[in-house]
Parts: sequence; structure tokens; C-alpha cells
Amino acid sequence: MEFLRVLFYILVMSTICTVFSLVLPNYIHDYIGHIKDYLNPGRVCKNCREVNLQTSILKEKTTNSTEYSQYIVPYSNQTLCQNYPDAKNWRFQCSVQCKELKLTDIPSTEVDVIKSCSMLEEGVSWSIIANRTFFHVPYKSKCLDNLIKDHCQTSTAVPNIAHYIWFSKREMNFYHFLSFISALKHINPCLLLVHGEVPYGLYWEYIVLIANNIINVKMEPPTEIFGKKIGRVEHQADVARLLVLKEYGGIYLDTDEVILRSLEDLMDYNFTLSHATDNNLSNGLILSTPNATFISHWLDGYKTYNKAQWAHHSTILPNQLSFKYPHLLHIENKTFVRPNYTQLPLLFQKNFNWSKNYAIHLYIRYYKRMHTFIDVRRLKTTMGSVARYILYDTKELCFDA
Ligand SMILES: *[C@@H]1O[C@H](CO)[C@@H](O)[C@H](O)[C@H]1NC(C)=O
Ligand SMILES: *[C@@H]1O[C@H](CO)[C@@H](O)[C@H](O)[C@H]1NC(C)=O
Ligand SMILES: *[C@@H]1O[C@H](CO)[C@@H](O)[C@H](O)[C@H]1NC(C)=O
Ligand SMILES: *[C@@H]1O[C@H](CO)[C@@H](O)[C@H](O)[C@H]1NC(C)=O
Ligand SMILES: *[C@@H]1O[C@H](CO)[C@@H](O)[C@H](O)[C@H]1NC(C)=O
Ligand SMILES: *[C@@H]1O[C@H](CO)[C@@H](O)[C@H](O)[C@H]1NC(C)=O
Ligand SMILES: *[C@@H]1O[C@H](CO)[C@@H](O)[C@H](O)[C@H]1NC(C)=O
Ligand SMILES: *[C@@H]1O[C@H](CO)[C@@H](O)[C@H](O)[C@H]1NC(C)=O
Ligand SMILES: *[C@@H]1O[C@H](CO)[C@@H](O)[C@H](O)[C@H]1NC(C)=O
Repeated sequence: MEFLRVLFYILVMSTICTVFSLVLPNYIHDYIGHIKDYLNPGRVCKNCREVNLQTSILKEKTTNSTEYSQYIVPYSNQTLCQNYPDAKNWRFQCSVQCKELKLTDIPSTEVDVIKSCSMLEEGVSWSIIANRTFFHVPYKSKCLDNLIKDHCQTSTAVPNIAHYIWFSKREMNFYHFLSFISALKHINPCLLLVHGEVPYGLYWEYIVLIANNIINVKMEPPTEIFGKKIGRVEHQADVARLLVLKEYGGIYLDTDEVILRSLEDLMDYNFTLSHATDNNLSNGLILSTPNATFISHWLDGYKTYNKAQWAHHSTILPNQLSFKYPHLLHIENKTFVRPNYTQLPLLFQKNFNWSKNYAIHLYIRYYKRMHTFIDVRRLKTTMGSVARYILYDTKELCFDA
């Protein structure tokens, strides 16, 4: 009897599902997909470059982090380093015990999209990533306004929202991962918004597992400015970051910009940029209040936009405007960027002393190597010290037997 009842139930349910699939709108399809994934979580990762990462994700999931709670405190083996006269130097003469990566070490605000948004609102949808419900909301939607209102109330000029632009369908790599983790750790944003497409790959899944406040904003790349076609995707991203900051305010980051300490001291300026070079302001890390007047002037400057000029409107123009409107922005003396792009060996081969930097730009398009969680533990370059500082809380070499 019991068996027949179950069989009957299955038949009725599958018929209903099939009929519904044919006639109902997309969000119901998404929901059915959600249920299917939920019941059948045997996802396979398509781009498992790093077996260790996968193992740690799986372990983390099955043990609920308990196993990881016994990690080693960073610097516990510092006595070893103290035998050296200039212990905390930038020469990597000694090694410390690096802790294991632990998901719960990385702060992330819990965001309840269902509470803030109506799921019936045009364009609001979700998908399942790494067994988490991941939300997509339209740019300039009621939903996004509510999320900001509910989670990002602030007394500072700059709201604590982190923004990334992701305009092409590409896999998240190790360096993007470092940038996202650094933002979570050192900004601890109320929302982490990825505008444009959704990244994919194992690193991305790891981020989705860690960040409970990461949301995809379905923003279309701007294709035109003052009647001119914006020819390159990089230039579209240059314009988009200004539009996003004008609309919502917050902290914009390039995907290879790594935050090294809290930006708290800068949150009361209406607009902050850093010099990249003496005649050039970087647009790789920008802090802005909503509607900052400097952005309006910057966007106006795009009247002379020309596809052939690679970095003019993104870096030279804001520098020129800063002379005209010095009261509208705060300028950092290269603390978001250095070493500059003519000093790449300092980044890729030597050990640069970044103790005064707020952030560092990794210039990934000039770097031909791809690192992993494992090989950065012994990497004797600035790239290595930055990666260890973000992942293992120490810039020193890891003592690995
Ligand atoms: C997982 O850990 C959290 C707190 O760290 C706890 O509240 C929760 O009950 C745990 N879940 C399981 C299934 O052990
Ligand atoms: C500290 O490092 C040394 C290697 O020089 C190692 O032999 C020792 O076991 C480490 N101590 C701890 C507590 O990990
Ligand atoms: C690194 O830079 C900081 C700040 O400029 C300085 O105080 C420190 O002495 C430097 N360390 C070394 C080993 O040069
Ligand atoms: C997926 O998440 C649910 C609860 O959110 C949990 O019960 C289930 O075990 C998870 N599945 C996997 C494979 O982690
Ligand atoms: C920041 O902007 C607000 C209005 O948007 C303005 O009232 C205030 O004076 C500005 N602060 C500075 C330091 O420019
Ligand atoms: C890069 O930085 C170095 C050291 O501060 C400086 O000498 C050089 O002029 C800078 N390059 C540019 C293009 O500004
Ligand atoms: C300005 O700075 C950027 C980095 O922010 C760099 O890529 C660009 O080449 C620089 N341009 C000039 C003319 O210095
Ligand atoms: C931005 O400024 C414009 C006019 O300069 C004003 O109409 C608008 O309400 C402002 N928006 C916000 C969010 O302050
Ligand atoms: C900027 O910092 C450099 C050191 O990195 C220093 O030599 C220079 O004087 C500073 N410039 C200003 C305007 O503070």
C-alpha cells in the first residue's frame, strides 16, 4: 500500500512539474532547478585546477568547519624568526607556521535577499552555486535599493559597499580570488556586488561559500557615451564603475587590486583616488559618496572620448580635473598602487616593502605565471608576501616541512 501511494505521489508530482515547466515563467523554472539541485547535489566541477582547494571545500562542507578550528595561530613559531636581528624585514630569512585556510575566519555579513526584495519583481532571480542560493538583481531596481537601505546604513560619506565589474564570461582565477578575499577581510563590506556577468570556476564557488552578502547585479555594459560608441570592453568597464559609484556610492575595485588594510580613514572623504604615477591617477580603487560631484565632471570629460587613447580618460583626465577641482576629492600618494607599472620586477621578482600601502595593484596582465594556494607559501617575491598575507595572515614564508 505504502509503495503504491509513493508511486502515485511521484507520478502526480512529475506530471505537475512537467505541465508547470511548459507554461510558467522563468523564475518557476529556476525554482524547479533549485529543487532538483538541492535533491541531487552531485555537482561536478568543470575547472578543478587545484585539487587542494576542492578538498578543502568538501572538507569544510562535511565537517562544518570543526576540523579547521584547530588551525595554528599565525606567528606561533615566531621565536624562530626572532633569532634574526631584523626579524620582520622584507628579506624572508625565516619561516613561520602558516595557518590553514578557514572559511569562517573571513568576515561576511549575512544578507537575506528574500526579506528585502520581492521575488516577483521584474528581473530578480537566483541560481544555485556551491549549494548556496545566489541572487541576481537588476541594476537600478527596487530590490537593490532595498538591500542597500536594509544593510548599508552608514554615518560615513562613503557607504561600505564593495563593487566589482565583471563584463565578460570568464573563470575566476587565483588573483581575482585574492582580491575578493582581501576585500572581504579588510573592507568587510555590507554588500559585495558583482556587476555584469557571473564568474565561474572553483575559486568563484569558494567565494560564494564564504561571502553571504555577494550578489550579481545584472548591469548591461554601457556601449555609448555622448553619442560615441565605447569600443573596448575595458573602456566600458571604466565608464561603468563611474556610473555605479554615482548611483550607489561605495568602493570600486579592479579584479587584481588587493586591499592590505582597512580603508576606514578614507570613508569620510566624498571622493578618493590614488596617484599611479606623478601625472596619472589610478581608477583601480575608488572610494565615492553617492552622487559625488567629481564623478559628474569626470563623466562630462568623456565628451572627448576616443577609442584609440588607451588610458587617457581613465587616468590622465581625472588628474587634470584634480587641478581644476581640488576641493572635490582627496588624493592618496600612490598608496593604492605602488610599485608602479614601470617597476614590475619589484612586484614579480623582488620584495617590495608595502607596509605603508592601503592596497596594491598586481598588474596581472603583465605576469605570466599562475600561482596556487600551495606554491605561494614559499614564494620569495612581493606576489608571494601579498598572497600569504591575505590567505595566511602572515607575509613571512610558511614553514613547510
Ligand atoms: C554548524 O556550525 C554552526 C556554528 O558554527 C552551528 O550553529 C550549526 O548548528 C552547525 N551545524 C551543524 C549541522 O553542525
Ligand atoms: C618551528 O620551526 C622549526 C623549524 O625550524 C620546527 O622544527 C618546529 O617544529 C616548529 N615549531 C612549531 C611549534 O611548529
Ligand atoms: C618598511 O617600510 C616601513 C614604512 O616606510 C618602515 O618603517 C620600515 O622600516 C621598512 N622596513 C624595512 C625592513 O625596510
Ligand atoms: C546543501 O545545503 C543543505 C542546507 O543548506 C545541506 O543540508 C546539504 O547537506 C548541503 N549539501 C552538500 C552537498 O553540502
Ligand atoms: C561632500 O558632499 C556633500 C554633498 O554631497 C557636501 O555637502 C559636502 O560639503 C562635501 N564635503 C566635502 C569635504 O567636499
Ligand atoms: C615609478 O616609481 C619610481 C619610484 O618611485 C619612479 O622613479 C618612476 O618615475 C615612476 N614611474 C613613473 C612612470 O611615474
Ligand atoms: C596611468 O596609470 C595606469 C595604471 O593606473 C597605467 O596602466 C597607465 O599606463 C598610466 N598611463 C600613463 C600615461 O602614465
Ligand atoms: C544627485 O544629484 C542630483 C542633482 O545634482 C539630484 O537630483 C539627486 O537627487 C541626487 N541623488 C542622490 C542620491 O543624492
Ligand atoms: C609621495 O611619496 C613619496 C614616497 O613614496 C615621497 O617621496 C613624496 O614626497 C610624496 N609626495 C607628496 C606630494 O607627498
